[in-house]
Amino acid sequence: MHVGMNITLTKPFILRYFLLSLILSLPFFLFLFLHLFSPPQQYHRYATTPYNNNLRIRPGYSSYDAYIQRQLNKTLNPRLRKIWTTRDWNRKIPVFARFFEDLKGKKLLHTSSKALCVGARVGQEVEALRRVGVSDSVGMDLVPYPPLVVHGDFHDQPFENSTFDFEFSNVFDHALYPERFVAEIERTLKPHGVCVLHVALARRADKYSANDLYSVEPLVGLFKRSVLVHVRGVNGFGLDTEVAFRKNTSR
Ligand SMILES: C[S@@+](CC[C@H](N)C(=O)[O-])C[C@H]1O[C@@H](n2cnc3c(N)ncnc32)[C@H](O)[C@@H]1O
Repeated sequence: MHVGMNITLTKPFILRYFLLSLILSLPFFLFLFLHLFSPPQQYHRYATTPYNNNLRIRPGYSSYDAYIQRQLNKTLNPRLRKIWTTRDWNRKIPVFARFFEDLKGKKLLHTSSKALCVGARVGQEVEALRRVGVSDSVGMDLVPYPPLVVHGDFHDQPFENSTFDFEFSNVFDHALYPERFVAEIERTLKPHGVCVLHVALARRADKYSANDLYSVEPLVGLFKRSVLVHVRGVNGFGLDTEVAFRKNTSR
């Protein structure tokens, strides 16, 4: 009789505590589930980006910050910055200057052009533009290098719509969101403005690249407000192809 009474008293008591601890631990299990079973948001986004096989976004960045941090790791390296601003300076500027002279000959660039170099690091290409007479030119990079290069992210350029006549970039492979990279160029170009990209189709760039491009077709698809002007082979610091677009008349 005594034992039976104990059992009837403790049963609902234990059940109540069990239910209470279950309710209290629900947030913990929810957190565990979200953390373990859902892929990081950014990774998920690139993995499902609908590019064809000729433009592949590299997986592996857990967030946009992780991507930016990786870019900065190289760009801020003091030993490399020393090399870029000394030994590389005189080696690279004449090569860029020849490309720009050629584009002037093709009437795609003029001394009166307002020009932007996207991802210009320490600004060798900007200096080259100025040396071929395009004095109103500036570069943009995650790390500024005054007075040649201002701070900016090419996925979200710090310029008004229709600002530039000419934009040059040899860093398309660093774009985590190629559609944003191109849309920002088209936004900040004036109607009839020209964009020239140097890209690598034949070889893969280093571990700092965020995408791999295997043909020109994906670029043509991304430049929605422009027409393709030319494609030609170049030898530009590991980049083998020059692709030029001209923005349509519409804003
Ligand atoms: C291969 S380097 C090219 C530098 C320069 N154009 C040259 O030829 O010497 C790539 C550059 O792109 C810059 N970059 C990478 N991601 C960027 C972003 N989201 N916005 C702006 N610049 C970026 C890096 O900081 C780096 O300076």
